[in-house]
Amino acid sequence: MLTAQENEQLTRVGAGTPMGELQRRYWHPIAAVEELKDSYTKRVRLLGEDLVLFRDRGGKLGLIAEFCPHRRASLAYGIPEMDGIRCPYHGWKFDATGACTDQPNEPAGSTFKDRVHASGYAVQALGGMVFAYLGPQPAPLLPKWDGFVAEGAIRHVGQAIVPCNWLQIMENSLDPVHTEWLHGHLQEFIEEKAEQAGTRYQISRHHLKIAFDEFPYGIYKRRLLAGASEESDDWRVGHPILFPNILAVGSGGGHLWKVHAYQMRVPMDDENTLHYWYMAYEPPAGVDVPPALLERTARYDFPYRDEAGEFRLNIVDAQDVMAWITQGRIAKRELEKLGTTDSGVILYRKMLQRELAKVARGEDPMGVIRSAAENDALSIPVERDKAHFTDGFESHMRRTQVQHSPFAQDLKRVFADFSRQRLAEKIPILNHA
Ligand code: FES
Ligand SMILES: [Fe+2]
Repeated sequence: MLTAQENEQLTRVGAGTPMGELQRRYWHPIAAVEELKDSYTKRVRLLGEDLVLFRDRGGKLGLIAEFCPHRRASLAYGIPEMDGIRCPYHGWKFDATGACTDQPNEPAGSTFKDRVHASGYAVQALGGMVFAYLGPQPAPLLPKWDGFVAEGAIRHVGQAIVPCNWLQIMENSLDPVHTEWLHGHLQEFIEEKAEQAGTRYQISRHHLKIAFDEFPYGIYKRRLLAGASEESDDWRVGHPILFPNILAVGSGGGHLWKVHAYQMRVPMDDENTLHYWYMAYEPPAGVDVPPALLERTARYDFPYRDEAGEFRLNIVDAQDVMAWITQGRIAKRELEKLGTTDSGVILYRKMLQRELAKVARGEDPMGVIRSAAENDALSIPVERDKAHFTDGFESHMRRTQVQHSPFAQDLKRVFADFSRQRLAEKIPILNHA
């Protein structure tokens, strides 16, 4: 458990707070590139700040404070120009750095505009996503995680605003045993109630042991499930959390398709988190992928609640969201009773505290990349033959929010064609099949 004060320190993300300063040392995803295709602006709430992401008519992206320095109207309704955006109220113009470059109704020759500046932050696009950096300059490099730079991959990204603090979402990723219950026994109970007897999954398999290894970019978590060998990818390789707020998972697909899955938890403020489920599917040579699937990173909303407002508890990702939200807006860690299986959560909290101290000393925290050579060589292994998804893509689709992607049906077709062809050639689809 943490004291109420320690909990406060690890959860608050506003400017000037210890965790707010740590989070400001990293790039955060704030939009899919395609959101700025049909619109010139998008409201962004990030680390307690209200911002506007905009595209000017020159195609340049900017991220500046939402409320105009003049009399606080919203720049989300601004008028784009070749090199900036004008406030809709009185036409003051701002460039991508937040500098005020024109005040059309001030006297000619006035230097007033030179003394007006909105907060402006760096943005960069990668893998179909737009990332923002709110910290001190010089900004570190935007990490080239495998799935964001893989050539010829099919990409899509699900999104949900989760009304709780970012930390309880991340702690879920340091807690392997929850899968056995939340995605296993609960799933079976939901099926029992729906009279879908006879589960086809083996996700409730017991954890024989779990392990956590720190590495330069975060923590690897590993699990040995009942019936699996120590040679299984789940135990031998495991999967990492990329410090501080990304989970990287390998999801089925065997060793032929390379599937990169990232769950990115972006703190909007102390009590809300923008959650992205980003997927990149790298096809093996010879797979016929419709060009439409390669042209964009499709963004979709993940409706984790049904029409009646209840959690969709037959979907793995919604099971997680239920657990996160029901812990409260900010989980009261001073009331917890941690057990032996919480060793990953404890390790992660200790790392957060250690890295907060580094930032307070003026040092870079872990995983901040400043060397291009390091960034170009960034490759983070993840498990491939995930024991959870032994029936492959069908199961992955049915059990995750991927079923809500606009690419869902096309993906299903591509995978089905691939499987048929492989079966005809008698090549196993999963290496452990
Ligand atoms: S409020 Fe923006 S120009 Fe007046
Ligand atoms: Fe989970």
